[in-house]
Amino acid sequence: MCEMPDLITEALSARLDGVGAVPREQDLYAGTGTDFYERLVGHDRAEIREVLALARHVEGPILDVAAGGGRLTIPLVRSGRRVTAIDLSDDMLAHLRRAVPDHSMVECVVADMRDFSLGRRYELVIVGATSITLLDRAGRSRLYANVHRHLAAGGVFAFTVAAGSSAATLTVPREEEIVVPGPDGDEIYLFSQQMEEDGAARLVNWVRASDLVDGGEVTVFTSRLRVLTPEVLSRELVDAGFAEPAVFPVRTDSGAEILLLKTSAGPRKAADDDAVE
Ligand SMILES: C[S@@+](CC[C@H](N)C(=O)[O-])C[C@H]1O[C@@H](n2cnc3c(N)ncnc32)[C@H](O)[C@@H]1O
Repeated sequence: MCEMPDLITEALSARLDGVGAVPREQDLYAGTGTDFYERLVGHDRAEIREVLALARHVEGPILDVAAGGGRLTIPLVRSGRRVTAIDLSDDMLAHLRRAVPDHSMVECVVADMRDFSLGRRYELVIVGATSITLLDRAGRSRLYANVHRHLAAGGVFAFTVAAGSSAATLTVPREEEIVVPGPDGDEIYLFSQQMEEDGAARLVNWVRASDLVDGGEVTVFTSRLRVLTPEVLSRELVDAGFAEPAVFPVRTDSGAEILLLKTSAGPRKAADDDAVE
């Protein structure tokens, strides 16, 4: 029996073995993964209304953390806001640069959300698309510290997390077919989710159904995420020196249940002043 690849679920591995297909892992946020991600969620309007509403209350540039292809940055820029967009993946930011040719409105910075120093403070810092779940506990602590150092006095930090029935789908193994729109029409992909670390994390894969042929090399898009609740994240924020967050439902067309957590920095510590110099 062949050794199971690290980032491919056992169920999908078995399926690939069954048809004699050869997997090639591809991070969802690099290379061709970025095109797939844009096809998968680029059209999703969730969170945009709420982020634009937050932006109306602030002046100056907005910091979009893990901005990716700019699903949230682009509407902010279109509404006349200047945005600093940071992301670990230059490939993801390339989509954003193409969509916003006016570089005076958006500054793209390749940076890790666990460790960044942008030389200024922001009145609004956002993390959309539940991207906070990309980070483990240590990573989230570092994110909170970095956001704290970059928030202007009275500034707002807002991010999203799944809730209710949507969150429930993130806690169980799943194998299902999904339709993914593309330039040449819809395509069927197999989605596979495996729970790990006693349910604290999930490994997710997508593979194009028509690629499952004997001897064929199959691109398997992969990501690994934490399973987090609004309650846990609220506690973490307070421990990290933020105010108890206000929690708002995000309106979605798909019926997905998403919550927006909105908080602000507590009293500034002396150490905070180093980060932005
Ligand atoms: C779910 S996508 C969100 C993209 C966009 N904000 C949206 O709303 O569609 C997650 C993004 O986080 C980025 N990312 C993953 N780990 C990161 C890290 N440690 N620091 C910064 N960005 C990271 C990925 O490259 C990807 O663009």
